[in-house]
Amino acid sequence: MSRQKESRYQQRVQAAYRSQLTAGRPVTILGVETSCDETSAAVVVDGTTVLSNIIASQADIHKRFGGVVPEVASRRHVENITMTIEEALQEAGKRLDEIDAIAVTYGPGLVGALLVGVAAAKAISFARGIPLIGVHHIAGHIYANRLVTEMQFPLIALVVSGGHTELVLMKEHGHYEILGETRDDAAGEAYDKVARSLDLPYPGGPHIDRLAHEGEANVPLPRAWLEPDSYDFSFSGLKSAVLNTLHNAAQRGETIVPANLAASFQASVVEVLVEKTIRAAREYDAKQILLAGGVAANRGLRTALTTRCEAEGLSLVIPPLSLCTDNAAMIAAAGYVSYTKGEFADLDLNGVPGLDLTASCAE
Ligand code: KG4
Ligand code: ZN
Repeated sequence: MSRQKESRYQQRVQAAYRSQLTAGRPVTILGVETSCDETSAAVVVDGTTVLSNIIASQADIHKRFGGVVPEVASRRHVENITMTIEEALQEAGKRLDEIDAIAVTYGPGLVGALLVGVAAAKAISFARGIPLIGVHHIAGHIYANRLVTEMQFPLIALVVSGGHTELVLMKEHGHYEILGETRDDAAGEAYDKVARSLDLPYPGGPHIDRLAHEGEANVPLPRAWLEPDSYDFSFSGLKSAVLNTLHNAAQRGETIVPANLAASFQASVVEVLVEKTIRAAREYDAKQILLAGGVAANRGLRTALTTRCEAEGLSLVIPPLSLCTDNAAMIAAAGYVSYTKGEFADLDLNGVPGLDLTASCAE
């Protein structure tokens, strides 16, 4: 694009932003999310009120392969993106000229998948002359909580999804300090792999969760506490222990009750996640604990964390299931923080598969 066009675009964006600030109207943001296997678009007002949140899931397609196939995901995003955005606007009762900004996930995630959302968002931003906001996917998961209740700082967010396991400290809006993260598999990934070893379909998390409630946690499995002061996590040892248990039992001709193995695996994951989260909340005097990401749907984790927080007098927020898994409303909610700071992306915004949460979200 020519310099002239680019600078005209910048002027239009700044004019739109100034006129919004002057008018003092509520800020209506269109969010777009395509980092993995859900194509999603949403309209959110002031980072708190969801007018629409459309999610076109590809889980059924990827189920056949036992996991997400990147090329298939990108292709499906291309097929779905326009329709999903149109549906989000329609359900919200908004026209594009009533949208103040467009917020899009630009990482981390599958590069080909990210690019579909980023390209669509850039096209709308350029065509309408409205601000473009690049959002970190994990910031989005954390901000799903703001769609439920206002955040209070300092807070500790436990982010557990298929691709991430992170303990994040936030002292103010838009600032993230990673206290700990997984050194190998993400919690959801471990769930999916263990489910596979028990011949359960993808994604396996909900199946293990269900089985766990039918069994007894009587199979001895390790807990990866790591160094005493570490907030990091590790799930690959636990996953191997589950596989070894199955393998050894098969060799000895013994039968393992799958429900008991699932319950034991879940007990190990949940105990470590809960203990480290509570320790971090104590150390940093957190006013709130937020749970985020697909694994936040886990009944065992929700119950254990709720019980511990009640016992410790800590305030806990857990979004409804529909906001825990990937969706664009959480992206629009996180984007609102950048909007209020005037932190906008340029048209050279790109998908960044390994994007760092602590890096500035404004590109
Ligand atoms: O946040 P998400 O939708 O996508 C990523 O950003 O990764 O998380 C998906 C992950 C999958 O690994 C899935 O198995 C897991 O969340 N999950 C669960 C449950 N529901 C979904 N894991 C454990 N228990 C559940 N009930
Ligand atoms: Zn996610």
